Amino acid sequence: MDRIHAVENMCYTILDEMGDDVEKMEALVHLSSVARFSYLLANKRNLDSELAYIAGIMHDLYAYTHERKEHALHGSRLAFGILKSLNIFKDDEVDAIVSAIRHHSDKKRIHDPFSEVLKDADVLDHYLSMPYSGPSVKDSGRCKAVFRELGLRGEEHLPLN
Ligand SMILES: [Fe+2]
Repeated sequence: MDRIHAVENMCYTILDEMGDDVEKMEALVHLSSVARFSYLLANKRNLDSELAYIAGIMHDLYAYTHERKEHALHGSRLAFGILKSLNIFKDDEVDAIVSAIRHHSDKKRIHDPFSEVLKDADVLDHYLSMPYSGPSVKDSGRCKAVFRELGLRGEEHLPLN
């Protein structure tokens, strides 16, 4: 858990520099939620939960602090710099986190299992954050698959399109 806290502290320091309090709150809620969902999904799939949590907490850092355009690519570079500067991760661990962040916007394709955890956690949080509209049509298939995997049903007030 020390490594999670070390990364979280870096992320919170970066987010703290955001001017808009509402956006800062949105960022904290989304990043924390995706981190937790990633942790659980990784655990279920026998992957590294600690690294999954860290990928989740970092995945949209660039989008919130800079811009959404190509945020997966830029965000992966930002994450690489942060993880390297902490000097507490092995190279293959950094690679796994950075690849997951780089792939996370490409929800249509299937990448390595660790990247898929982050994408599924992201979609799950989008779904649960939009109680009135449900998930976007483009991600509903992925969202349905995660619900099936977890043995959950789509609620009537949260229809899976
Ligand atoms: Fe996200």
